[in-house]
Amino acid sequence: MTTNTKVLLKHRPNGEPAETDFEIIIDDVPVIEDGQILTRTIYLSLDPYMRGRMSDARSYAEPTPVGDVMTGGTVSVVEASKNEKFEEGDIVVTHTGWQVYAISDGRGVRKLRANGIPISTGIGVLGMPGMTAYTGLKNIGKPKVGETLVVAAASGPVGSTVGQIARIKGSRAVGVAGSDEKCAFAVNELGFDACLNHKAKNFEDQLAAACPDGIDIYWENVAGRVLEAVIPQLNFFSRMPVCGLISQYSMTDPPIGENKLPSLMRAVLTNRTCIQGFIVTDFGKDFKSFISDMTQWVADGKVKFKEHRIKGIENAPKGLLGLLKGDNFGKTIVEVSDDPTA
Ligand SMILES: NC(=O)c1ccc[n+]([C@@H]2O[C@H](COP(=O)([O-])OP(=O)(O)OC[C@H]3O[C@@H](n4cnc5c(N)ncnc54)[C@H](OP(=O)(O)O)[C@@H]3O)[C@@H](O)[C@H]2O)c1
Repeated sequence: MTTNTKVLLKHRPNGEPAETDFEIIIDDVPVIEDGQILTRTIYLSLDPYMRGRMSDARSYAEPTPVGDVMTGGTVSVVEASKNEKFEEGDIVVTHTGWQVYAISDGRGVRKLRANGIPISTGIGVLGMPGMTAYTGLKNIGKPKVGETLVVAAASGPVGSTVGQIARIKGSRAVGVAGSDEKCAFAVNELGFDACLNHKAKNFEDQLAAACPDGIDIYWENVAGRVLEAVIPQLNFFSRMPVCGLISQYSMTDPPIGENKLPSLMRAVLTNRTCIQGFIVTDFGKDFKSFISDMTQWVADGKVKFKEHRIKGIENAPKGLLGLLKGDNFGKTIVEVSDDPTA
C-alpha cells in the first residue's frame, strides 16, 4: 500500500460526540529512519476513555490535540524495521492510534509471542482492559470466598473479566448489563451467579433480591442508577474500586433530582466502605503476574471473552459512538487490515 488512512479529531464535542467531530484523511505511508519501525495496524481497540481524550477538561492524561490522529491501542505487524529489537513480521501491541500505518522508535511497543490465543486479545482480555480488571481486584477489590461482588457493563471487557476473576477467587458475581441478551450471556457463558438489566423498572428490587447477604465489593464502571441502587446494600468494610463512570462521560449539566452524595457519604461512614479510584497504569508492577495468570486462565477456559468487531478504520467513529451508548456486545475491536495469523 502507498497510502495511509487516518482518523483525526476535528472538534471537541460538547455533550454526546458525533461523527462530524472526526475527519478521515488519506496521507502518504511514512518512511522510517535509523532506530525506527513501521507498523501496520491489524486491530484497533475502541475504549470508553477515548471520550475523555476528546475533551480538554483536566484529567489524568493529556487530551488529543484537535487535528491530531485519535489516540488508541493497537495490535500491529512490523512492516519494516531499522531498530535492532524488532524484525519484519513481528506482531506487537502498541499505541499508534486511529491510522493504518505508523512510525515508532520502539518504546512502549510489546512483542506478542504465539501462544495459541488469538492476537486480538492483546488489546482485550490479555491487554489493557484485562489488566484493569486484574489489578483493580488484586489491589483494591480483594475478593474473598463467600463475598458478593457487583459489576456493571458485565458483558464488556472489563466487567466480564472482573466477574470471572471474582468467581475464581470464590466470590459470588452479580452482573448488571443493558439488555436481557447480555445478561443471559453473563450467566450462561461467563458463569456469573446472576445478572440484572439496569433498564428494568424494578431494577433496584432485583438487585436487592440478587444480593441477599449485601454487597462486599461494588466495582464501579458506570455510576448513575446502578451506583444509587448499590448504596443501600453495601456491607461493613465493603470496597469500591472506582474504575469508570461511563453514564457521566458526556454529561454537560449535573444530574436532575435529589443530591445523592449525603446518602453515599453516610454509607461510607457507617459501613467503613473503602472507595478508591485507580487508573490501570497505577499497577504496572503487576504486569508480569497479570500476563502469567490471565494467559493460563484463558487457556484453561476459566476466563472467557467476547469480541464486538467492526470492519474498516473509516467506521471507527461510529463504533466509538455506539460503545458509549451500549451498542457493543463484548470488547469493541476495529478490523483495520489483514491478520497474518488468522
Ligand atoms: N480506570 C481505568 O484504568 C480503566 C481502564 C479501562 C476501562 N475503564 C472503564 O471501565 C468501564 C468499562 O470499560 P469497558 O472497556 O469494559 O467498556 P464496555 O463494557 O465495552 O463498554 C461500555 C459499556 O458501558 C455500558 N453503559 C454505557 N452507558 C451506560 C449507562 N448510562 N448506564 C449504565 N451502563 C452504561 C454499556 O453496557 P450495557 O449495555 O451493558 O449497559 C456499554 O457497552 C468504563 O467506565 C471505562 O471507562 C477504566
